Formats: sequence, structure tokens, C-alpha cells
Amino acid sequence: MKFFIDTANLAQIKEANDLGILDGVTTNPSLMAKEGIKGHDAVMQHYKTICEMVDGPVSAEVLGTTFEGIIEEGKKLVQIHKNIVVKVPMIKDGIKAIKWFTDNDIRTNCTLVFSAGQAILAAKAGASFVSPFIGRIDDSSWDGVQLIEQIVRIYNAQGFMTEVLAASIRNPLHIVRCAEAGADVCTCPLSSILGLLKHPLTDLGLEQFLKDAQAMQ
Ligand code: E4P
Repeated sequence: MKFFIDTANLAQIKEANDLGILDGVTTNPSLMAKEGIKGHDAVMQHYKTICEMVDGPVSAEVLGTTFEGIIEEGKKLVQIHKNIVVKVPMIKDGIKAIKWFTDNDIRTNCTLVFSAGQAILAAKAGASFVSPFIGRIDDSSWDGVQLIEQIVRIYNAQGFMTEVLAASIRNPLHIVRCAEAGADVCTCPLSSILGLLKHPLTDLGLEQFLKDAQAMQ
């Protein structure tokens, strides 16, 4: 399973990248706004900076909701850097646009996916990635990981090439369960990635080893 970081924060991207386990980045308009990035040129520059930091796909989301608007934005986004993947919402014009991007060799990430039916449409249109939002599903008292399992089963049965990108990750257990479910990619906040490191027995064991090593000196 590939690890993407789900942020537009450059310090967090650097910290995850320095671990050596980062395969890409996802952003969305809310994450960009959180960093205080304002204006078209600043947004484009920020995507460029991220692409120069991480050697892997960087999802940049369109803001348009019409076929023409999405295509126009997507064409500009892919000119920023070869790593840009155009992130398109799961709406009717979004699906049409994904098909157009597929036919024109432009990679896409179909976002805001909450059902297996939506994931089938995204795959039929040729999306490179499909992003089911598992944390938001959990927030409404459904099991988001079950959706990942179902989409993985369908894609395997049908031979779809779209990669299942588990998004809206809230904690390290989500990452573990998505890996078990067969997700191709997990896009995570830095806190969830670092949470994978944690185990009290590791800390206690290391403390004891270091103490015993001192006795040998
Ligand atoms: C990433 O592709 C998604 O936009 C992101 O994971 C959504 O996460 P959230 O539900 O925490 O906002």
C-alpha cells in the first residue's frame, strides 16, 4: 500500500518525506485554505513547491463544477508539473471530465466518493484513483473501511485498473484496516502516520535495553 500525506502544510510534507516512506500528496480546497494560500498565482506556486518536494503523484483539486470549467482548470493544473493529478468531484460533469482526461492521458483522482456505485462510475470513466472518504462515513455511524473492502472486491472482480485511495483517514487504525482491506493507497494526516510508530512495549523495551547497555560500559 502506498502512503500519501493529506495536507498542504509544507513542514508536515517535509517531515513525512524525510521518513522515506512517502509516495505522494493529496490536497483539497479546505487544506489549501488552512495554510492561508490566497489567489490563483499563490495556489499554483504552492502546488509547484509540493511537486518539487515529493517524487510522486500530487492531487490538485478543481473548483469548477461544469464539464468545460473542470477541463479548463485541469489543463492548467497539469502544466504546473508532471506529478500533478487532477482531482475531480464525483458529479455528473465530473465523470464526463474524467473520461475526457483519460482519453487525453491526464491522470485523475475522483474525490468525494461515498458509495460502491460511485466508485464503479469513476472506474468506468478511467479515473487513475478513486477516493472514498472513510472518516466522514464513520462520522455518520457507518463503517468506512467496509466500503473500501467492497470497492476492492468489485475492482478485482471486474479487472478495473483504478487505484483505491482511502481518504479522510482519522487515526492509525484506519491505516491498518485499509491495508488489510487491500487499499492501493492511504492518504493520511501526519499524526496518523506517526501514530503507527507508537507502542508502549517498544518504549519500555528500549528503555530497558539502554539501561542494560549502560551496565556493560
Ligand atoms: C483527500 O483526498 C480528502 O480530500 C481528505 O482526505 C478529506 O479528509 P477530511 O474528511 O478529514 O476532510
